[in-house]
Amino acid sequence: MALKNINPTTTNSWKELTNHFNYVKDINIKDLSKELNRKEDFSIEFEDLLVDFSKNRITKKTIAILVELAKEVGLKEAIESQFNGEVINVTEGRAVMHTALRSTSDTPVLVEGKNIKPQIQSALRKIKSFSNKVISGKWKGYTGKSITDIVNIGIGGSDLGPDMIVESLQFYKNQLTTHFVSNVDGDHVSEIIKKLNPETTLFVIVSKTFTTQETITNAETLKNWFLKSATIFDIPKHFVAVSTNLEAVDNFGIDKNNVFPMWDWVGGRFSLWSAVGLSISLSVGFDHYKALLEGAEEMDLHFRNEDFDKNIPVILALISVWYNNFYKAETEAVLPYSQYLKKLPDYLQQAVMESNGKGVDRNGNKVDYQTGTIVWGSTGTNMQHAFMQLVHQGTKLIPADFIGYKESLYGLTDHHKKLMSNFYGQIEALAFGKTKEEVHLELKFSGDEDKINQLLPFKVFEGNRPSNTILFNKLTPRSLGKLVALYEHKIYTQGILWNIFSYDQFGVELGKELAKKLLKAQ
Ligand code: F6P
Repeated sequence: MALKNINPTTTNSWKELTNHFNYVKDINIKDLSKELNRKEDFSIEFEDLLVDFSKNRITKKTIAILVELAKEVGLKEAIESQFNGEVINVTEGRAVMHTALRSTSDTPVLVEGKNIKPQIQSALRKIKSFSNKVISGKWKGYTGKSITDIVNIGIGGSDLGPDMIVESLQFYKNQLTTHFVSNVDGDHVSEIIKKLNPETTLFVIVSKTFTTQETITNAETLKNWFLKSATIFDIPKHFVAVSTNLEAVDNFGIDKNNVFPMWDWVGGRFSLWSAVGLSISLSVGFDHYKALLEGAEEMDLHFRNEDFDKNIPVILALISVWYNNFYKAETEAVLPYSQYLKKLPDYLQQAVMESNGKGVDRNGNKVDYQTGTIVWGSTGTNMQHAFMQLVHQGTKLIPADFIGYKESLYGLTDHHKKLMSNFYGQIEALAFGKTKEEVHLELKFSGDEDKINQLLPFKVFEGNRPSNTILFNKLTPRSLGKLVALYEHKIYTQGILWNIFSYDQFGVELGKELAKKLLKAQ
C-alpha cells in the first residue's frame, strides 16, 4: 500500500492543534510540574530505558491531538509499509529495509518478491568469520604478521555511523586500533598514514556506490602508499570492500572473496547495521556488534507494536513537530552526558537533516510549512561551559534531548554522581529557571544588596525551556542500538507527518556535479 499523501496542515487535527496552541501557548512548565502524577503521566519506561517528557510545554490534550494527527496522516500504515518492504522510497524506487538487517524473526521479508532474510544472514556469517580471523590474529598480512590497525575509508553514511559507534563502544574495544578516513582533504589521510605500518594494516573501503569522489580518492592514495612497500599480489591480504558496485570494486583490484554486500534497500545513513558496520565488528568483536543489532530490534518491535501514546519514537517525533510547527523553534539540541557519545550529534546531523531537510511534499509541491529541524549538540558537562548560556538565557527556543546513564562503566562513582547532578541540574534550570524574587533574595543574603537593581535582570532565568530526559541504565552495545534506532524511527515518523520523502537525498547532488565540472576545468 502506497504512503498516504496528506498535507498535514489540512487535517482536522492540525486545525485543532492550531486552536489548542492559541489557548495553551503561554503555559509554563513550572505550573505544569505541579500537576499530580505529571512525571508518571508523561514518562515511558521500556526495558532499561526511561523517557521522561514531562518538562515540555504540553498537556494531556496536546498529546491526544498530536496522536490523532499521527493517525490521520496514516502513520500506522506507513510503519507497516516500511517493515513489509514496500517501495516507500518512491523517488528512488526502493524499499527501505534497515529494520530487516537486525530482525531475528524467521518471517520472510519480500523485496521485489524475494525473501531478503537469507542474504542478510549470510552477510552476518561472513562478517563474523572475517572479524574472528582478524581479531584472533589468524589473518596475516603480506609479511606474515597479524593485523594491528583497521582503516575505514568512507564518507557520510559509510563513515559517520561506524565511527560514532566505535567511539561510543570504546569501553568494549579489543586490541585493534581503528582509524576513519573520510575527507577528501589530503591532510586527513596523510595524518592517518603517519600512524600506519603497511605490513599490519587492513583497509576497509566502504562505499555503496563505489563512485564517491572522497572515498575513491582516499582509497587510491592509500593503495599507492601500500604499494610502495608491497606488491599488487599482496592486496587481497590488506584490502576489503563493502559495496553494491561489484564491477568498480573489481576494477579497484579487490579480491572477490573480500567483498561484503550492500543492498539498494539500505540507505547510506541507515547502513551501520549492514556490512557497513564491518569496522564496528572488527573493533568490538562480533558478539558486541550482534548485541547492538539486537538492541535496535527491540526498539523496532516497540515502534511497530506499541500504541502511539506509549510509543517512544512517535511521542518524541510529535513533541518535536509541536515545537517546530507551532512554537516555530528551528533547532533541537542533543546533549549526551557521556563522553563516549561525543560523535552522536554529528551522526544525527546526517541522519536527521539529510532525511528530513526537504522543501517539496510527496506530491512534488513546495510545502508551505516547516519541515526538518536543525540538530546540533555536544556532550555534558563540557557544553555547559560553552554554548549553554544561550540555551538558558538567549532569545531562541531550543528544545533539548538530555541523554544519560544511571551507571558509569569504570565506576568512579564520585565522578558519576557529579556528572548526573549536572545532568538533572541543567534540566531543572531550563525548565524552572530562577525568578526575580529568588534573585533578589540571593543578592540580599550574599551581601550584594547595593547591587540588586544593577544586577537583577541579568541573573534572572526565565525558565520554561523544554527538554526530554532519555535515561538508560548503562551504556552497552544493546542500549546503544536501542538509542540509535529510536532516532531512526523518530526521523521516519516526522517525514510521514510532514508528508515528505525521508529516504532520498537529491539535495547533495548539485554541489557534487559542480565540483566535478570545476575540477575538469582546472
Ligand atoms: O553525499 C551523500 C551520500 O550519498 C550519503 O547519503 C551517503 O551516505 C554518502 O554519500 C556516501 O555514499 P557511498 O556509500 O555511495 O560512498
